[in-house]
Amino acid sequence: MKDLARFRSDAVARLREAVPGPAIVAASGGIDSTVAALLAQEALGDRAHSLFVDTGLLRAGEVERVEGFFAASHLSYRVLDAEARFLSALDGVTDPEEKRRRIGTAFVRLFEEEATTLHADHLVQGTIAPDWIESGGALRDTIKTHHNVGGLPKDMRLKVVEPLRDLYKDEVRALALYLGVPEHERQPFPGPGLAVRVNGPVTRERVARVRVANRIVEEEVDAAVATGRLPRPWQYFAVLLPVRTVGVTGDNRVYGEAVSVRIVESVDAMTATSMHPPADLLATIAERITRELSGQVTRVLYDLTDKPPATIEWE
Ligand code: XMP
Repeated sequence: MKDLARFRSDAVARLREAVPGPAIVAASGGIDSTVAALLAQEALGDRAHSLFVDTGLLRAGEVERVEGFFAASHLSYRVLDAEARFLSALDGVTDPEEKRRRIGTAFVRLFEEEATTLHADHLVQGTIAPDWIESGGALRDTIKTHHNVGGLPKDMRLKVVEPLRDLYKDEVRALALYLGVPEHERQPFPGPGLAVRVNGPVTRERVARVRVANRIVEEEVDAAVATGRLPRPWQYFAVLLPVRTVGVTGDNRVYGEAVSVRIVESVDAMTATSMHPPADLLATIAERITRELSGQVTRVLYDLTDKPPATIEWE
C-alpha cells in the first residue's frame, strides 16, 4: 500500500457511509484495533465509543500501558472490567477453538450490553487479512478461528465494520506510523490473550503463572534487543503447558508445571522462523522463571519449530 493518505480518506468515507448512528469500537490496545479506532474516531467523532475490555487475560501491566498508549494516540476510550465474566465463560474449557468461541461470544455479549445503552447498531473492529484468511474466510481450511472473526456468535445483533480487513500487518504498521501512533513496532498479542497461552484449563492461578513467565521473557528479550545481542523478534512469549513435571527445590521434590519459551521472526505472521537466541539469554530466562515461580514451574523448554509446520501460538 503506497498511498497512505488515500487509504485514510477512503476508509473514513467508507466508515461514514457504513455507520449512520453511534458505534461501539473494540479497542484491544494492539496496533490493528488502535488504527481502526482512530479511523472510526476521525470518521464518526463522538459517535465512536472505543471500549477497552480488561478480560483478566492480559499481560502484566497491560491496562496501564494501554491507557498511556491511547492517551498518546489521542484516542477517547473507556475501560470495562470483565475478568470474572471471561473466567467464568472459560471454566472447564480446554479445546482451543472452543476457547476462542467462548471469548468471542463474551466480547460480543458485553458489547451488545453497552450498545443497548449507547443506542449503537455497529461494531467497528480491527480485523486484518491474516485473521480472516486463517479463520477459513478464503479458499482455505480453518487454521485458527480468530476470536474476532469465526469466533463471533451467529446470532449477534451488531453489524460488524472492519476498515482494515484487506491489510497485512506491515501495512497497518505503516499506517500507524502515518497516523502518529506511538509504539507501532510493538509485538502482536492475540485477542484471546493469555487464554491461548495457558494450554489446557484456564484458571485464575494458571493465568497468573503464565503472566509472570511472559513478563520475564519480554523483559529479558527487550534487554537483549536494547544491547544489540538479539535482533528484534516478531514475537516472544511463554506458554504454560498442560503437563506436570518433577523438580527439586532444596530437599523437596516438587511436582510442577512446564513452560515453553517461543521467540520467532516473521514478516506477516503467515509463516515464521524460530530464532536461535544466545544460550545465556535462554539460561537466564529459564533460571528466572523457575525461581520467580518456584514450586509452580519446574521445567522450561525452548520451542525450535517453524511455522509451518507449527503455528506461532501453541493453541
Ligand atoms: P498463529 O498462532 O496462527 O498466529 O500462527 C498468527 C498471528 O495471529 C496471532 N493470533 C491471534 N490474534 N486472535 C488474534 O487477534 C486470535 O485468536 C489469534 N490467534 C493467534 C498470533 O499471536 C500471531 O501473531
